[in-house]
Amino acid sequence: MYNCGMCKSSLIRLLVVFISFYWTTNCEGTVSVLRGRHFAPEGDKTSINCNVTDEEFIGWFDSSGQKITSNPSQRVHVRANGSMKYLEIKIVNKSDRGTYECRGNTNKTQVMLLVEYAPVLIRDKSSTKTIFSSLDSNEEVTLICTFDGFPDPEVKFQMAGVELNSSGIISRSGFASYKFRVRSQNDFGFYACVARNSRGQETHYIEVYESGAPEPPNNMHVSPACDRIDVTWDASRKDGGSAVTGYTIELQRGGDTVESEVSVERKSSHKLKKPGERNAI
Ligand SMILES: *[C@@H]1O[C@H](CO)[C@@H](O)[C@H](O)[C@H]1NC(C)=O
Ligand SMILES: *[C@@H]1O[C@H](CO)[C@@H](O)[C@H](O)[C@H]1NC(C)=O
Ligand SMILES: *[C@@H]1O[C@H](CO)[C@@H](O)[C@H](O)[C@H]1NC(C)=O
Ligand SMILES: *[C@@H]1O[C@H](CO)[C@@H](O)[C@H](O)[C@H]1NC(C)=O
Ligand SMILES: *[C@@H]1O[C@H](CO)[C@@H](O)[C@H](O)[C@H]1NC(C)=O
Repeated sequence: MYNCGMCKSSLIRLLVVFISFYWTTNCEGTVSVLRGRHFAPEGDKTSINCNVTDEEFIGWFDSSGQKITSNPSQRVHVRANGSMKYLEIKIVNKSDRGTYECRGNTNKTQVMLLVEYAPVLIRDKSSTKTIFSSLDSNEEVTLICTFDGFPDPEVKFQMAGVELNSSGIISRSGFASYKFRVRSQNDFGFYACVARNSRGQETHYIEVYESGAPEPPNNMHVSPACDRIDVTWDASRKDGGSAVTGYTIELQRGGDTVESEVSVERKSSHKLKKPGERNAI
């Protein structure tokens, strides 16, 4: 009698083990999404669906593990319709890129959200200043353009609308560089980096300028007073490739230069020896 009692309890235990095994293998729900990668253009509305069947839906979670709200007034929210749990984004932003997880209480699945956007120049990884060179210097000029964008932009060099094809050009997704030596006057001018992807196009211009004398100063003001003439001006827009060391101010009378002075500052005050005389500067 005592022994049989032992038998019965281990049989019950075996049954409990069997039942729980049956439950975990057959009664676990499914959590499924259409595709593991979801593409959405920036600025558009998008919706990722998740089908949760035979189990409780816990929620959609973002890359940082934060549960997404079901408040429909939020830009990013969850909407449920029966077994379908939609992750909805009203206006997709670049920063929404990441892995999202749809969780049930036993099962879960992930979706990678890839935001598509037109190329954008990365200024600190591109040539943004005028580059000076000369025909006799024989120095190499390097132009660099780097763009962000998704899908990865294709970058090409153009001059006057014509694509450049040279062994000096290195081009890979989101990047292009052009290394060359100026050989003729035609090599000076504006070079365009054209970046393209399925979302759009962006052009960045780089000027290669012949080094030499600076351009004249701008915005010159001359104010005559009774005993002196004050002159102010703005720096040359192009320094010709090396720093401007000074400006010469000449006082002319009847077409002849009667006096001249050099100023390193952008202003000069000239004292007249004979007040009131006609002068030209
Ligand atoms: C979770 O659900 C997927 C279907 O979305 C299914 O293939 C997988 O077997 C499930 N995982 C478990 C542990 O039940
Ligand atoms: C959701 O998943 C279940 C089980 O995999 C399937 O029977 C059902 O058709 C799916 N529903 C939709 C709307 O895809
Ligand atoms: C919810 O799903 C049902 C059946 O799939 C569909 O007829 C209905 O239009 C859906 N409702 C909304 C608000 O999407
Ligand atoms: C995208 O999000 C960032 C940071 O959250 C924000 O500064 C930016 O304005 C947003 N862009 C658009 C196009 O809404
Ligand atoms: C570029 O030049 C190479 C050789 O110099 C030539 O094989 C190729 O067809 C050219 N491509 C274009 C687009 O002109």
